[in-house]
Amino acid sequence: VNAVGERVFDLTAEAGTTEFTPGVVTETWGYNRSYLGPTIVARRGENVRINVNNDLDVATTVHWHGANLPAEMDGGPHQMVEPGAEWSPNFEIDQPASTLWYHPHPEGDTEHQVEMGLAGVFIVQDDEEAALNLPRSYGVDDIPVVVQDRRFDENGQFVTDVRGYIGPIGDQLLVNGTLAPYLDVTSEVVRLRLLNGSTSRVYDFGLSDGRSFDLIGTDGGLLEEAAPMDGIRLSPGERAEVLVELVPGETVNLQSNPPDLGISASAATRNAGDDTLDVLELRAADTLSSIGETASTLASIEPLDQADATVDRSFTLNGYTINNRLMDMTRIDETIEAGATEVWTVDNAMPLPHNFHVHGVQFQMLRVGTEPPPVELAGWKDTIYLEPGVRYELIMQFAEYTDPDFPYMFHCHMLSHEDAGMMGQFVVV
Ligand code: C2O
Ligand code: CU
Ligand code: CU
Repeated sequence: VNAVGERVFDLTAEAGTTEFTPGVVTETWGYNRSYLGPTIVARRGENVRINVNNDLDVATTVHWHGANLPAEMDGGPHQMVEPGAEWSPNFEIDQPASTLWYHPHPEGDTEHQVEMGLAGVFIVQDDEEAALNLPRSYGVDDIPVVVQDRRFDENGQFVTDVRGYIGPIGDQLLVNGTLAPYLDVTSEVVRLRLLNGSTSRVYDFGLSDGRSFDLIGTDGGLLEEAAPMDGIRLSPGERAEVLVELVPGETVNLQSNPPDLGISASAATRNAGDDTLDVLELRAADTLSSIGETASTLASIEPLDQADATVDRSFTLNGYTINNRLMDMTRIDETIEAGATEVWTVDNAMPLPHNFHVHGVQFQMLRVGTEPPPVELAGWKDTIYLEPGVRYELIMQFAEYTDPDFPYMFHCHMLSHEDAGMMGQFVVV
């Protein structure tokens, strides 16, 4: 904490090398290390300042994905940090306990920079979450699980293998930067903060013996109550918090099963929809500690009311465009009134995978097709998978941060699509 009461973090983007396999040296990038970055933990109500230094020889940005903050602090493509430069955004943490993340967002170069290793987890805590008796000892029973697929060439370097329309797909998984990882579990219940940190691949996370886990949170916060699930689909950028129960001495695998992409079987085959992958082996100790009962009500989520919405907008994703436009840094696509509640209707017009992410706000789903949202889409979200032919109706209330000059982004989070232009800009005024 500095003299003006800000909690200060330092992130230096740097190039290095990592031995994912002992003896095999891979060129990688990271923040303050050679791959990925430190987990930032901050509390609601705190002011944070993050000193971002760029020791790379290319320009970068750092975007706080999922954070509610002024557009100038957002770290999108308008907040470039040149090689050797420093950028020090500061903002108040003003949203519920949640698992956010951070990653680069330079126009046209996001996929490559994320693939090299620039990404990290950003945990928001609050008093309500602290009182629930959830597992929350970081690294002990509260574990970030950053899942990324990568492909290595014969020299051990990352290579980009474009499979189908979805974009680059790896054949090996890195979890928190580790190949074939395991976790020694010492408690009866472990909380996994799952992040699909991949550039393109969609996962369907489940446990190897088919047992269920409890879904407790989605992108922007906790659900009202835990929901037992036997799998959860996460597209790039999405997060889920789950509780897994273990018995002493057992081993169970978190794995990814073939996700339902909502596309034809042949298109699924071409777009990484058929793969079953081991993610994380959970090895329970012979004696497990218990923290006792978790509160049954986790959060209260005030539903946003369609009657309060003043504006409806629709977005159609097609080719690499949104509403037939490619990203243009000099064009503002949407102008939104501060504090407004809006309904956004989003359609994927292609028989192929896309998803949709909005900066600076968390939204709720009004409808998926003609149905109310399933439980995994019933809480706060900032990123959703878009099945072709299904209309997604989102409702959101924009914050009071106004800025006519700096926009926020909305885009497909399949990063090669974003880089190809599947992105637009909005200002809040
Ligand atoms: Cu996670 Cu605009 O991005
Ligand atoms: Cu974002
Ligand atoms: Cu896309």
